[in-house]
Amino acid sequence: MSLLNILRYPDPRLHTVAKPVHEVDERIRTLVDDMLATMYAADGVGLAATQVDVHEQVIVLDTSESRDRPRVLINPEIVERSDETVLAEEGCLSVPLVYDKVPRHARVTVQALGRDGALQRFDTEGLEAVCVQHEMDHLRGKVFVEYLSSLKRDRIKTRMLKKAREEATRV
Ligand code: NI
Repeated sequence: MSLLNILRYPDPRLHTVAKPVHEVDERIRTLVDDMLATMYAADGVGLAATQVDVHEQVIVLDTSESRDRPRVLINPEIVERSDETVLAEEGCLSVPLVYDKVPRHARVTVQALGRDGALQRFDTEGLEAVCVQHEMDHLRGKVFVEYLSSLKRDRIKTRMLKKAREEATRV
């Protein structure tokens, strides 16, 4: 397993729209395993393939306390959503140290292929429901900070670019 490089906002590649996976083969299973290792190493609850510069519809997540219940969603679709929404504080491995509230459906029913290629369908709520919606946005090329005001977003962009410059000069 290898750790993958996570793209940082405002990298334009984060706005690429992911294509559906045609076949869950060895290449996809390797991607899934590398994404899980990368997510756990970065202490994240979710990661979309877009964030590691692979533009196919693959998501990994684990919102369990014990960090041992990985979920793999390939070609995910939300087939039902609650009218009720929640405002949860979100963060993102592509936008380190930025947290803000975004409205999401409180409950969703998700349909996706798993790592074994089998179709799964499940209902979820709470943190996992928020996480699924956040990661599915990544696959559409949308980063959560794009829900915020342009003023806040510009501030975040400036901060991220400054941080990247600092890191680049620190050799
Ligand atoms: Ni994210």
